[in-house]
Amino acid sequence: MAASGSAIGLGNLWKFPYITYTNNGGSFVLVYLACILIVGFPMMCAEILIGRRAQSSVAGAFGKLGYRGWGIVGWLGVLSGFVILGFYAVIAGWSLYSFYQCMNYSISGYETPDPKAFGAFVSNPTQQISLTFSFLLLTALIVYRGVSKGIEASAKILMPILLVILAWLAFTVTGLEGFGKAMEFLFKPDFAGFKAEAALEALGHSFFTLSLGMGAMITYGSYMSKKEKILPVSVTVVILDTIIALMACVIMFSIIFSFPEIQEKVGAEGGGSTVGMLFVTLPELFYTSMPYGRVVGPLFYVLVAFAALSSTISLLEVIVSSFVDKLNWNRRLATVVSSVLVFGLGICSALSLGANKSLSELKPLGSDNVFSERITGDKEGVLSILDHISANWLLPVGGLLITLFVGWALPKKASMEELFPGRETPPALYKAWLFFVRFVAPISIGWIIVAVISGKSFS
Ligand code: TRP
Repeated sequence: MAASGSAIGLGNLWKFPYITYTNNGGSFVLVYLACILIVGFPMMCAEILIGRRAQSSVAGAFGKLGYRGWGIVGWLGVLSGFVILGFYAVIAGWSLYSFYQCMNYSISGYETPDPKAFGAFVSNPTQQISLTFSFLLLTALIVYRGVSKGIEASAKILMPILLVILAWLAFTVTGLEGFGKAMEFLFKPDFAGFKAEAALEALGHSFFTLSLGMGAMITYGSYMSKKEKILPVSVTVVILDTIIALMACVIMFSIIFSFPEIQEKVGAEGGGSTVGMLFVTLPELFYTSMPYGRVVGPLFYVLVAFAALSSTISLLEVIVSSFVDKLNWNRRLATVVSSVLVFGLGICSALSLGANKSLSELKPLGSDNVFSERITGDKEGVLSILDHISANWLLPVGGLLITLFVGWALPKKASMEELFPGRETPPALYKAWLFFVRFVAPISIGWIIVAVISGKSFS
């Protein structure tokens, strides 16, 4: 449940619908699903098994298994943790604000917000910084107290409620006019103009959404007892995560295609509304076309906040457990130092949505050149750059190194013992998994990376 809590988060509810929208739907969704199946699932097993075998933090795991040189992969994971938290906490903060806003609507009635309202909100420095701060404080408090009890308990109750509410929303949108169009947009692939960069984005997102490529699942695997089975756990996490992501898309696109004024807002250039899809589209449904929407609205954003919290906890835990383990710090020191560093980065992201001009317009590789286009996707502003670099580069590269480690460096005996304990001869399932980890996953990741660097178009 804690692993599902880590996987299910803003990646599913906020990021996936938004990047699917900007990447033209169907073809992107199909490539994403292929990445989950071919790379994501085998990697999930691989990470959990490293963690359970090593019983150690990411930074220490490889050394503990006898491969000190690979320790660099662990530190790369710690770096990714900083980069992801540095922008994730800002978006997570928005869920707190949306909760507050929905409470207001529920109490004093709904008014369709001004199309510029979202842009004004994200460029308000005080609001953005204090929301980011609050969210990080919450995360740090839980990580400081130790992960296992708190998270597992809350994930057990809250994740099922989130699933039920999403199912209910999905049911409600089937009655909307835009439902058919949404299904078509999502599930009818059109590969015209499909570029390697979109494939990298789909691949990177499959890592992001499953919390892979930086050792979050290694860390959680290290807390898993020998009695539990890795395979069923991985299957559950991957399936739940995928269902929730697809449901979020069906819901949001049905709303977007049903209400012209929402479509206008989401399509609006520069107002940041595409980025804010999760926060802009749903209130319209809650307060105009949904039974009990006044109750569901605020509740929904509380659950979004919890989903985000169980993810930020896993991110911070990767950093803190590594510092405790490798630098011999105590948990308090490690939590305080890493949270302060993350908050520093968080401030830069929080101010990069309009509040500060140079942070918002930052383009580290310059503009109008192929490097900027291929490496940073022509993104501008600290938040978008951190998001892009982590999902499109740090996680795929981390993931590539992890599959190579499990497939080629770690002896077969070790992975066999973790996945199928007590078996003498490897079952067909083990052989299939090993084939994916040794060949299919690394070749797919490598191929996509090479295609992006050489500027390929797959259409
Ligand atoms: N998977 C989470 C989401 O979809 C985000 C997340 C949590 C994450 N821990 C991670 C992403 C580790 C990458 C690596 O929102």
